Amino acid sequence: MSSPEPTLQNIIDQQSLKWIFVGGKGGVGKTTCSSGLAVQLAAHRESVLIISTDPAHNLSDAFRQKLTKTPSLVQGFSNLFAMEVDPTPDLGEAEQMEWAQDSFLQDLAGSIPGIDEAMSFAEVMKQVQTFDYSCIVFDTAPTGHTLRLLNFPTILEKGLGKLMSLKQSMGGMMSQVGRMIGAGGEDGGDLTEQVLGKVEGMLDVVRKVNDQFKDADITTFVAVCIPEFLSLYETERLVQELAKYGIDIHNIVINQVIFPDVLGASRLLEARVRMQSKYLEQFNELYEDFNLVKLPLLEEEVRGVDALKAFSINLLKAYQPPAPRQAGQSAREAELEAQVHSLTLRVKELEAQLTKQ
Ligand SMILES: Nc1ncnc2c1ncn2[C@@H]1O[C@H](COP(=O)(O)OP(=O)(O)OP(=O)(O)O)[C@@H](O)[C@H]1O
Ligand SMILES: [Mg+2]
Repeated sequence: MSSPEPTLQNIIDQQSLKWIFVGGKGGVGKTTCSSGLAVQLAAHRESVLIISTDPAHNLSDAFRQKLTKTPSLVQGFSNLFAMEVDPTPDLGEAEQMEWAQDSFLQDLAGSIPGIDEAMSFAEVMKQVQTFDYSCIVFDTAPTGHTLRLLNFPTILEKGLGKLMSLKQSMGGMMSQVGRMIGAGGEDGGDLTEQVLGKVEGMLDVVRKVNDQFKDADITTFVAVCIPEFLSLYETERLVQELAKYGIDIHNIVINQVIFPDVLGASRLLEARVRMQSKYLEQFNELYEDFNLVKLPLLEEEVRGVDALKAFSINLLKAYQPPAPRQAGQSAREAELEAQVHSLTLRVKELEAQLTKQ
């Protein structure tokens, strides 16, 4: 069997995809690749939204445009939107005090780890569900955080399920829960009902999201990495964890690959190329049934829509490095030499054909 195409064209072709998560270790190029993918998707889908769930947002930097927690149109596009959300809850000081003093709430939060963060993620998903974009790309935070985020629907479902089963015995306590999840206010009376209504509504969203995340027709994860040991190791961990959660992954982008265009330019560069080729080989062996996309390390950062457009072409069309040249040789000389070489080959081919006749 031939190995899968070394591009992300499969994502463009899979029209049913709605959620595309892009994740990997810190600093490898998640924001660059997710923004680039969103730019390419915008040319093939009716509307695309890119969301950053990394508290240290850098979508604004990549697009060179101020973004907020509501979707804004990316400059130069009519169907590409971007937003930056914070999945960690923003508790005011008063709320934190209340939280700390209330032993019931403390017990509850303690018994359902991650519930507060999960709640605010559910809020984001609820909001996003109503937007009706053809597809949504997530620029996620470094791996550990992302895996927690993807597990939120399960955490929430467990936590909220627990809450529902506690409802009879809780009675008046529900008002405290009500304050915790922000349902109702001063009017006491129907608070229990309001809380239960809200919890039920939340469970609905969460179940829907959970089902969608586990459906490979709708959701996929793209790992971004670099050809180095730690990144290879982290990618494998990510692939295994995603398998545990039942989330599809079949694309890996290997970023910052050095394609030397000057032979013998520097010992450092040659050593890095050797090191990278060792890990590239390991990626090829480990992930032979994945689409493995190699992106070149550029001399410059990738910032702004034009740079993203140019860079992201390599996501859909495998990057072809220029012919290597000797140190001291100009790019033009190397190009001419490459042309002479290919012409010589062609002449030999024709000569061989002639002698056959
Ligand atoms: N192939 C590349 N060639 C040159 N520069 C690159 C390349 N890929 C990414 N960069 C640059 O490297 C920096 C880090 O990239 P990026 O912000 O995409 O990484 P990240 O994985 O999102 O980081 P973080 O974990 O901090 O969110 C950026 O300045 C980006 O422009
Ligand atoms: Mg980033």
